[in-house]
This record gives sequence, structure tokens and C-alpha cells, in this order.
Amino acid sequence: MQIISSEISKSLAAKVASSLGTELVGVEKRVFPDGEIYVRALSPLKDRVVVIGNTHPNDSLIELLLLQDLASESADVTTVIPYYGYARQDRRFLEGECVAAKTMANLLELKSKHIITVNLHKDYIREYFRAQVENLIPSGEIAETCRNADIVVSPDAGSFYLAKSVAEELGVEAAHFEKKRISATEVTSALDTDVRGKSVLVVDDIISTGTTIEKACSILKEKGAGEVEVACVHGLFLKPLSVNAHASDTIESRYSDYTVSGLIARALLKLKDP
Ligand code: R5P
Repeated sequence: MQIISSEISKSLAAKVASSLGTELVGVEKRVFPDGEIYVRALSPLKDRVVVIGNTHPNDSLIELLLLQDLASESADVTTVIPYYGYARQDRRFLEGECVAAKTMANLLELKSKHIITVNLHKDYIREYFRAQVENLIPSGEIAETCRNADIVVSPDAGSFYLAKSVAEELGVEAAHFEKKRISATEVTSALDTDVRGKSVLVVDDIISTGTTIEKACSILKEKGAGEVEVACVHGLFLKPLSVNAHASDTIESRYSDYTVSGLIARALLKLKDP
């Protein structure tokens, strides 16, 4: 098995390759003056190649498609998408909208037999693929970021599955806020659970502008919570955050303090030797 990755996932790919003792193929990447991308594998690609790359930002998606096509010329391709961008448009909310999560699925499975991804925004996105898709949830890794939590809370009902599975790892209770989105940067939230004096871990799949998580933290403080910690899987951090956060390395940022490389390596091993 060889691993090749787009630029954005280079350090995660290096960790996966080192846990598996597998070759990480170097890539020469150039961007032409008109913005088009050039990639070249620096070693011959053989018969089984794992391509690692995100679908966000847009240029990384193009790079991923180029690498998949290149690898597919000589190999069976498994694609690892640490952060599956466009997943929040997972269905048609308004008449005439494009279901972007499905568009991505159609493109990504063209050259790949197996797809591995981390914490899809909605698990049912797997159904948009005909290829075999594995959706890895890093609950154990998140639990390790805050072992002293008394309760795990998600900022909306959509992420409650994550709060529940992290809470299970920690052997504590889970709860969720009721969130209503007013606009891209405005939300209203409410929580029924008593959190007075409790150490709370707030978990979400994505932190984008930070609006959702900041609102949840300020309500928890108003309700008398003790220590409040925040953890997400995919940290986009598009605006400066007023709270500290733990994030994985699906998207590298200064908040990335836990890795999903072990989870990905184990999933790849299972594919190799089912
Ligand atoms: C929404 O359904 C997601 O799970 C996140 O809660 C959302 O993407 C966070 O966005 P923001 O940080 O901009 O509030």
C-alpha cells in the first residue's frame, strides 16, 4: 500500500503512513498563473494507493480529484476524506437547491472503490455513494481531551449522537441544546438540563464561525456550569473564537490537539485484511 495526499492533508497523511509503516509518496504541486493546479507523483504508483484529501477548500477538492485520477491509472484507489466539505447541504431545504453533498459523492466515487471519511455531518450522506463508505467517529479521541467532564452537551439536536457517544466513553450523562438558526451568524439556543456546578464538555462536529458554540458556552455559564470545555472534530475557525477549543487534525489549525490518524490507520488495515 502507498499513501499520497493533497497539500492540505500532508501532515495527517504522514502520521497515517508512519502508523502503518507505509510509503508516503511525495507530490510536486504547482499552481499556474490562472489558478489551475498541477500535480506530479514523485515515485511510481503501484497497485494499491490510498489518496488522502479534503473536499474543502475548493482548490483542495480539485487536487484530490487529480490525485485520484492519477492513482487510478495504475492502482485500486481507496480515498480518505478527513473533512467532507459541502456536507451541510445534505438535502434540498428549498425548491431548486443543489444537494451538494450528493454532488461530491458522485465525483469522489468515480475513481475510488472504497471511501473512508471522518465524522460526516450526517451519516445518511453515505447513501449518496454507490462505493463502500466508512464514516469514522472519533468519540474516544474527543473523550481523551476532557476526562473530567461530568456531562457532555451538544449545541443542537443534530450533534446529539456525538455527545452521546463521547459521554458513553466517559461514563457520564449527555444532553443537547435546542438551536434555531436565524442567519449564518445568528442563532438562538436553549438547554433544559441542570448544569449547576458541573464540568461540561460541549461537542460539535464542525466549528465554522463559532457562533453556535459561543452561544452554547455563554448559556452554560449563565446557568451556573463549572468548567466549560469545547471540542469539535472539524475546526474551520473562520472567525476568532472567544473560548478555547480542542479540534482534530482533519483540518490543521492552532486548535488541532488530537489526531484521527490512528482511527484512519485502523480502518485502512481492516480494508486490507478484512
Ligand atoms: C451545524 O449543523 C453544525 O453541526 C455546526 O453546529 C455548525 O456548522 C457550526 O457553525 P458555526 O460555528 O458557524 O455556528
